[in-house]
Amino acid sequence: MQIRPPSRRPARLRFLLLLTLLLQLPAAQAGSNTLAEIMKELGTEMCRANQALLEEDFGQLAASARSIADHPRPGVTERLRVLGGLGSDVARFRSSDVRLNETALSLAQAADDADPEAAVQAYGQLLEQCMDCHASFRARVRALLHP
Ligand code: HEC
Repeated sequence: MQIRPPSRRPARLRFLLLLTLLLQLPAAQAGSNTLAEIMKELGTEMCRANQALLEEDFGQLAASARSIADHPRPGVTERLRVLGGLGSDVARFRSSDVRLNETALSLAQAADDADPEAAVQAYGQLLEQCMDCHASFRARVRALLHP
């Protein structure tokens, strides 16, 4: 019977974790966009959503919210750099993105319901989530991607 030396386990575990995280990212969405390009687009859609909210143009608001929720993933090279560089904080970074997408869908739902109060609430929460992730990760990820 062969038993693997215990010292190899942490490395294997990390590898499995990385693999699991990679597999969770939908391959169909793995575009060639850079994270910075995706973020610029998020910024544009937030402005569109803001304008649509003020004009009570719920069709446009729903469209912008859905495009935020369905934003593409960065290319695999950048993803690997972020996953590798953030280490154990990767889960927090990822869950930040998952929560953003959920809130964007709530905003889309509020727009579908033509409910301005719910829309304002969801929009505010969305903006907070953008800023929260930037406060925690922007400088770190920027240093990883643009050393
Ligand atoms: C999961 C974390 C995360 C969330 C959530 C997030 N961002 Fe970002 N954002 C980043 C990181 C990291 C960068 C720096 C990327 C770089 O420098 O390559 C960035 C950069 C940006 C930039 C600057 C892009 C540039 O030209 O350098 C804008 C604009 C932006 N984000 C908008 C948004 C908006 C709007 C939202 C919310 C709808 C949002 N972000 C949510 C992580 C996040």
